[in-house]
Amino acid sequence: MTKFMGWVDARFPATKMWDDHLAKYYAPKNFNFLYYFGSLALLVLVNQILTGIWLTMSYEPSATGAFASVEYIMRDVDYGWILRYMHSTGASAFFIVVYLHMFRGLMYGSYQKPRELVWLFGMLIYLALMAEAFMGYLLPWGQMSYWGAQVIISLFGAIPVIGGDLTEWIRGDFLISGITLNRFFALHVIAVPIVILALVVLHIIALHEVGSNNPDGVDIKKHKDENGVPLDGIPFHPYYTVKDIVGVVVFLFVFCGIIFFFPEGGGYFLEKPNFEPANGMKTPEHIAPVWYFTPFYAILRAVPDKLMGVIAMGGSIALLFVLPWLDRSPVRSMRYKGWMSKLWLWIFCISFIILGVMGVLPPTPEFTLISRICTVLYFAYFILMPFYTRMEKTKPVPERVTG
Ligand code: HEM
Repeated sequence: MTKFMGWVDARFPATKMWDDHLAKYYAPKNFNFLYYFGSLALLVLVNQILTGIWLTMSYEPSATGAFASVEYIMRDVDYGWILRYMHSTGASAFFIVVYLHMFRGLMYGSYQKPRELVWLFGMLIYLALMAEAFMGYLLPWGQMSYWGAQVIISLFGAIPVIGGDLTEWIRGDFLISGITLNRFFALHVIAVPIVILALVVLHIIALHEVGSNNPDGVDIKKHKDENGVPLDGIPFHPYYTVKDIVGVVVFLFVFCGIIFFFPEGGGYFLEKPNFEPANGMKTPEHIAPVWYFTPFYAILRAVPDKLMGVIAMGGSIALLFVLPWLDRSPVRSMRYKGWMSKLWLWIFCISFIILGVMGVLPPTPEFTLISRICTVLYFAYFILMPFYTRMEKTKPVPERVTG
């Protein structure tokens, strides 16, 4: 084995890569459960790619055959049902895991210097993930696939001058048709997954260049032993590879529970109107995107003007990109920030969840008012951040991690 590895290492840096990223990558010893979600996001990514490949083997990307081919996968293809449920549940799981992963970033200031690029690559992954989920949702060619895509693509029509031509260019037709389905299929199965994979590699390279943050937000590289090993660091492998297995097992229990007993997720993971084939002549009574998009959909609907709504929706995501430059706090972790940062993070999370609920409910005047209040609070979290992070009194940060 040693001889073989010597042969490989003389030609390819296998051992060096193993050491740099696993065996000699020193991660802070005080990671808590919020640190599971990065490795879980990787697991779900692999799940989506593998089940997606197998689904593609039996799926037919045409307006006439798509819906029937999904039924065929569910009823006739050996283990087709489990492949499809793994993929559809995986889509929702991906967003749950990624939202918790991002929340961890907000809690511990992981986006702050020197991890701005880790955050930016993460945000690009998030954008690509939204595009991937949106295009994948058209593929079963059910009523919600069709009308959901119709609503979202028509948003581009609000852009002045080029709007009309742009929507036509995206659809490739005057309305959503088999042509749209075909291009979404191509983008969903090959183009966007390649982009996501490349971004994940860049995300990890950027993280390993600067090292992981931790719940204390303490820089572990400040205190090293005589060999240059951080005193508060432990090798990622075997310590965190083993610890991450605990997270994987718990996750798989929940994931399998949903696949086997609750695959439609109460109509949130697989929406009810999508069990009916797409029909361009019949609009469903109530069109709502899948739950992971609904906070942004609620922001869109909260603004009376269509163009302004689209701008607000875009702005709500754009602000996340500039987060590293909005936070002026001298400390990273919520543990040592002042009460204003803590309060605003609460307000932000609660507003985001309420917006998510509002996005699935019909826009009655009362619900629209609630959405408007939450939209203002969502934006206030970001816009006021430079002020409250600078004004508030922070607690002293310990020299070493506290556990
Ligand atoms: C496919 C999606 C993603 C995958 C596979 C992924 C993977 C990972 C992994 C494996 C880590 C190291 C382990 C950990 O700290 O949990 C990590 C760290 C990190 N990720 Fe992601 N990530 C994804 C999406 C995102 C998104 C959307 C964001 C935010 C916009 C983000 C922001 C971060 C940050 C800030 C860190 C460093 C955390 C720290 O050191 O405290 N990631 N990511």
